[in-house]
Order: sequence, then C-alpha cells, then structure tokens
Amino acid sequence: MLMVTATETAAAPVTLTDAAPGANPDPDPIRLAVIVGSTREGRFGPKVADWFTSRAAPRADLRADVIDLVDTPLPGTLSYRPSPEAAEALAAVGPRLEAADAFVVITPEYNHSYPASLKNAIDWHYTPWRAKPVGFVSYGGISGGLRAVEHLRLVFAELHAVTVRDTVSFHNAGDLFAPDGTLKDPERPEAAATTMLDQLAWWARGLREARAARPYDA
Ligand SMILES: Cc1cc2nc3c(=O)[nH]c(=O)nc-3n(C[C@H](O)[C@H](O)[C@H](O)COP(=O)(O)O)c2cc1C
Repeated sequence: MLMVTATETAAAPVTLTDAAPGANPDPDPIRLAVIVGSTREGRFGPKVADWFTSRAAPRADLRADVIDLVDTPLPGTLSYRPSPEAAEALAAVGPRLEAADAFVVITPEYNHSYPASLKNAIDWHYTPWRAKPVGFVSYGGISGGLRAVEHLRLVFAELHAVTVRDTVSFHNAGDLFAPDGTLKDPERPEAAATTMLDQLAWWARGLREARAARPYDA
C-alpha cells in the first residue's frame, strides 16, 4: 500500500458553478452533482475535487453542485424511519442528488476499494441514481484508484445507473500535485477530464430526454 502526504484545502462547502464569461449560455445545462467521497482526517480529496471542478466550471453545458461528504455528514446507521436529526442530515443531500442529471464521484482507493463514507452515502439514497450517468475521478497509490472505480461500477449497476467508460485517475496522486493544488503536468489529466465529461454529457442529455418522454420504471 502506498501512502501520500495529505493536505486539506479550504474547499467551499457547496459550489454552484456557472459557465465562464463569454461561453455560449446553454438554456438547459446538465445538472451535475460532484460527490467528494473521502472524509478522512487530513484527506487529499479536496485537491482533486478543486482541480476537477475547475475543469467542469468553464463548460457551458454543465452546472455543477459539489457535495462534499465532510460538509454533509450522514448517519452511519441506515434506517427506514430516520430520526429527526437523521432526516435533517439527509435533507441536505437527497434533494440535490434527486435534482441531478448526472454524477461524478471523486474517490480514493482504500484497501483495493472505495471508502466506507461513500458507500454509506450511496446506500442512504435508492432512487436518485436511476437512469442517470455516473463518471469517476479516482486517485490513490500505484493503482490510481481504478480498483475502487471497478467496485463502484457494480454498485451503480444495481442502482440502475449507467457508468461512463472513461475515467480520470491519478496514480501516486501526492506526487502529481504542487503544494498550491495545481497539477505539475496537467495536459493528460485535462484531456481525460474532457473525454469523461463529454461522455457523461452525452448520456445525461439522452437519458434526461428519455426520462421525460417515458418515466423509468423498469
Ligand atoms: C485505509 C487506507 C487504505 C489504502 N489502500 C490503498 C490501496 O489499496 N491502494 C492504493 O493505491 N492506495 C491505497 N491507499 C492510499 C490512498 O488511496 C491515498 O492515500 C489517498 O490519497 C487517500 O485519499 P484521501 O486522502 O482523500 O482519503 C490507502 C489509504 C488508506 C488511508
């Protein structure tokens, strides 16, 4: 197992991003929920999340809502009858997931899979993923989080979501970012993010139209 030095950056709890000035406004942009899956103390995740949202923000076809699981902690015990406190915590996340047309999950790899915080957030919510696409940004040691992504594909298939083929993955992530959060060699990750977001946008638009034409009840 390879460990990296993790540095927490001060990410805004919720970021609604708008198209960059000058970009053609999209009258009906895809609502993209970006889920930051790691809640580990001293986590590296915000660096990856900040970089990724900086790639998504200029796109006129997307409008991103960053759901950082540190800012929206959910109860660790699942329940069909959540307490008022649990219901309040769920209300901070569930409607945002329901409103999304597409998801990007930002995940590290822990012991060849994804973090328990992410599984907990997914398991609390059964319906928001249905007939919607999911893309992945992963990071970790030598595997770049790809084993976490492969596990997540199985989970999202069970939830009737469509996972897009191409991912963004950071192998030995701690070596790739400068202390200020910028990538030392951004060209390939930027290209990978564009490819993944293009695929996600295609599916998001197509599935949104399909859900509108015929509600998904399979
Ligand atoms: C409990 C734990 C298990 C890990 N297991 C793996 C692993 O199996 N493969 C890997 O490449 N990296 C592994 N790592 C390294 C993490 O992927 C890396 O430290 C990453 O930055 C963790 O994300 P975070 O800092 O946002 O929590 C592990 C880290 C932790 C804390």
